[in-house]
Amino acid sequence: MIARRLSLTDFRNYEELELDLEPGASLFLGSNGHGKTNLVEALSFLSTLGSHRTSSDLPLIRHGKAAAIIRAQLANGERTVLAEVEINREGSNRARINRSPIKVRDLPRSFASVLFAPEDLTLVRGEPAGRRSFLDHLLGLRNPRMLAVLADYDRVLRQRNSLLKTARASRISSSQLGTLDIWDARLVEFGAQIITARAELTQELLPFVAQAYGTVAGAEHEVSLAATLSIYATKEGMNGSADSASTGPVDDDFAAAVRMNRRAELERGVTLVGPHRDDLVITLNQLPARSYASHGEAWSLALSLKLASAELLRVNSPLGDPVLILDDVFAELDSSRRGKLSTAIAGFEQVLITAAVLADVPDNLRERVIHIRAGKVVAPDE
Ligand SMILES: Nc1ncnc2c1ncn2[C@@H]1O[C@H](COP(=O)(O)OP(=O)(O)OP(=O)(O)O)[C@@H](O)[C@H]1O
Ligand SMILES: [Mg+2]
Repeated sequence: MIARRLSLTDFRNYEELELDLEPGASLFLGSNGHGKTNLVEALSFLSTLGSHRTSSDLPLIRHGKAAAIIRAQLANGERTVLAEVEINREGSNRARINRSPIKVRDLPRSFASVLFAPEDLTLVRGEPAGRRSFLDHLLGLRNPRMLAVLADYDRVLRQRNSLLKTARASRISSSQLGTLDIWDARLVEFGAQIITARAELTQELLPFVAQAYGTVAGAEHEVSLAATLSIYATKEGMNGSADSASTGPVDDDFAAAVRMNRRAELERGVTLVGPHRDDLVITLNQLPARSYASHGEAWSLALSLKLASAELLRVNSPLGDPVLILDDVFAELDSSRRGKLSTAIAGFEQVLITAAVLADVPDNLRERVIHIRAGKVVAPDE
């Protein structure tokens, strides 16, 4: 799929922007701090409802304004849709498809993009939460039903935690215990679906990651991905691997873990087991990459995870090729890796690239250059 036209109102440093986009590669070029990342961040937000730079939506709204609007005309083969999100300083965000209101969380069903940025390094180096959201975002793109399951799990988790907190403050009553049993069942129902879906996704993703790593790093290395699941955690607090600890169907094991942890959860006032506490362990040549990989290896692994997710979506998402967004990626790579990456992405329907220095970007991606200055698209010599 491609984005054909992007309109912004009061998004970051853009007061108003109307920009036609083409298939193939486009390069956004401009000096530091002029709005290149802001522009691609807007498109990425429309497809993921998140930003690679901020976890809060507020910085996305132009300073001093009440709301930001991102609107894009999207084309998937013959089908086109107008997707729009309004990010509000006060009150909740709103979304529209073809000018009709929809639930904000359903917006990603209309637009798939994969963004590569230096921040992706945290996928390899950072906390488990980043890896979980990488997987969950992909789950939602591949199977929109999972968006609802993830949202349900989140809701149950919050309510269960708040019950555990109250129970911790005052001694738990028998009616609260009954309510907790109900929340336990819901937690297991939704959580088991997430654990299973993540495991299937990880299996599917692995060959793509291994292939992408081969492409980017250009050598023989062994990459593997494995889940560590908190429902199989040992008493020492270590997370267990699904393969070694599984004794039965995931929902039975999950329910057993919840029973086993009840006393500890009542003492601590939080839910201790479930997919919100799981991790994806990435190993390179048998060593956990998070703590062993070199900077270059970690960065290549992060790129490979992103490339793999793009390839996977390309193969089996109803939206076809995701739009690839490469924010400041080439400046981080040596020239051999630049070349390899540019070959790997060249076949995607639309690739949007930002760079401050033209020379950092391989020749084959420089055909269409869009110059950005102070929150505006300008002519090359302006
Ligand atoms: N909410 C906002 N309101 C107004 N201006 C903002 C807002 N958020 C960010 N900016 C401004 O946008 C500019 C940063 O833009 P952006 O991150 O897109 O730069 P860039 O062109 O990608 O630069 P670099 O080459 O350094 O990556 C900064 O000057 C910042 O002050
Ligand atoms: Mg930038």
